[in-house]
Amino acid sequence: MSKPRILVFGGSLRAGSYNQKLATIAAAAATAAGAEVTLIALRDYPMPIFDEDLETAEGMPENAAKLKALFAENDGLIIASPEYNSGMTAALKNAIDWVSRATSEDEPPLSVLKGKTAAILAASPGGYGGARSLAQLRPLLKNIQVTVLEDQVTIPKAYAAFDADDNLADAAQQQAVKSLAAALVSKMS
Ligand SMILES: Cc1cc2nc3c(=O)[nH]c(=O)nc-3n(C[C@H](O)[C@H](O)[C@H](O)COP(=O)(O)O)c2cc1C
Repeated sequence: MSKPRILVFGGSLRAGSYNQKLATIAAAAATAAGAEVTLIALRDYPMPIFDEDLETAEGMPENAAKLKALFAENDGLIIASPEYNSGMTAALKNAIDWVSRATSEDEPPLSVLKGKTAAILAASPGGYGGARSLAQLRPLLKNIQVTVLEDQVTIPKAYAAFDADDNLADAAQQQAVKSLAAALVSKMS
């Protein structure tokens, strides 16, 4: 059987993003569990804020189309979602909005999202570890017909959570990320 294909990214545009570090750990774990993993950073796909007038006038921006193609090529998603003002980042929501759009009349709705399986994680400096961001992201994904694993991982006090190798210093937290990634690969296999 072919390996499950999983797209992994953090929802931050920040160079030193804790969530991109978390995504990188999860990507390695998914690879070790037998998946074909594509790890990307949203900062490498800068795109305008979604605007239907812009879409009508110019179509899908190049980087949004590239990101949409990556979604199309993968059956699974691992998303590490930062928390801004108790919710997900505009960058993450904006990326989802763009890739949710059809680019031709015969393309079915949500073609690159529907039927996918996802695992979600978060890291934040606060005590909730980004749980409120995941509380937004989870129903959003479900509503666009992505199956989201019940388990999730949140990392509080993210400023102190990563070691010099960008792994989680706490062995239990590192194991939780590995287990979540392995559970996703297992569900997709
Ligand atoms: C506009 C803004 C709002 C924020 N709101 C929250 C918040 O509600 N809860 C929280 O835990 N952290 C909050 N933070 C702190 C972020 O969690 C922190 O900047 C974190 O590093 C972002 O994730 P990243 O490291 O992956 O970029 C906020 C940061 C910004 C810039």
